[in-house]
Amino acid sequence: MADILQKVLQEYGNKDKCKIRDPTKVEAILQKLASDGPSKLQVITDFDFTLSRFHKDGKRCDSCHGILDHSPLMPDSFREKAKALYEKYYHIELDHKMTVEEKIPHMITWYKGSHNLLIEAQVTKQKIQEMVLTSRALLRDSAVNVLSYLNDHHVPVLIFSAGVGNILEEILHREKAFFPNVEVISNYMLFNEDGECTSFREPLIHMFNKNETALDNPDYFQDLKNRHNALVLGDSIGDLDMGSGIHNPGALLRIGFLNDKIDERMDSLYNNFDVVLVDDQTFDFVNVVSRMVCAQPVSK
Ligand code: TMP
Ligand code: MG
Repeated sequence: MADILQKVLQEYGNKDKCKIRDPTKVEAILQKLASDGPSKLQVITDFDFTLSRFHKDGKRCDSCHGILDHSPLMPDSFREKAKALYEKYYHIELDHKMTVEEKIPHMITWYKGSHNLLIEAQVTKQKIQEMVLTSRALLRDSAVNVLSYLNDHHVPVLIFSAGVGNILEEILHREKAFFPNVEVISNYMLFNEDGECTSFREPLIHMFNKNETALDNPDYFQDLKNRHNALVLGDSIGDLDMGSGIHNPGALLRIGFLNDKIDERMDSLYNNFDVVLVDDQTFDFVNVVSRMVCAQPVSK
């Protein structure tokens, strides 16, 4: 096996969890990331179950939506309706036999239904803060260190989420992880003067239109037009194209976290992501790659 990849895997130390379909391609990507260094790098990461953990101590963790769906501070009627939506649509999201095109109309129905329930429940900013503090939404081990390290090396991080921006920002604040290098593109709740959610900012971002959303945010990518290389981190096929807005893309390393329905979904992630991390609740692999890139002299 080629040099840099072997070193990365040694430092990561968890080879069994790391599946790579084309090691030669990954080696070439790593070589370019390393030789171009941090000044050419940007990081684009999904939030739910990518930056955040999928489980801890044998129990599932919360997504942005899950925080509200499971909170005793929300009315029972909200929780029941949200659960019914989740049970109907989550299986469709992960169904490896359906195409993305077949899934999209269902995902839009799910999002619209879910956003309407939050508006009906008149959820407030203040309640969101309380719910986040007591929730089981946790960042992956070493994720805060990686964000801090990237901030120290002036590498921009885009958190690109089809969850809820206001909620994920609260989680980042709680973890003291909202560093100046972090930007968020997500669905944002809009509030009235009483602090109640009355609508959501348009256009809707769902898990399978992140490619279009990237192109709808040209300013972000224009500002980073000299950063052609990227780490693209996700847990869903819909996260693969989060880098569509990058100018003249160079080396893109797509790292997929395989969390749920591992056997059924392995082929799909393995065939599409450059690296698949199987049930790894840490950001250690991203840490090793980030340090490998940033330890290089900054190119002029
Ligand atoms: P993301 O991980 O791409 O940011 O997508 C958000 C996740 O949120 C996606 O996996 C589906 C999930 N979700 C819920 O858990 N409940 C909901 O009500 C909705 C609309 C999405
Ligand atoms: Mg996700």
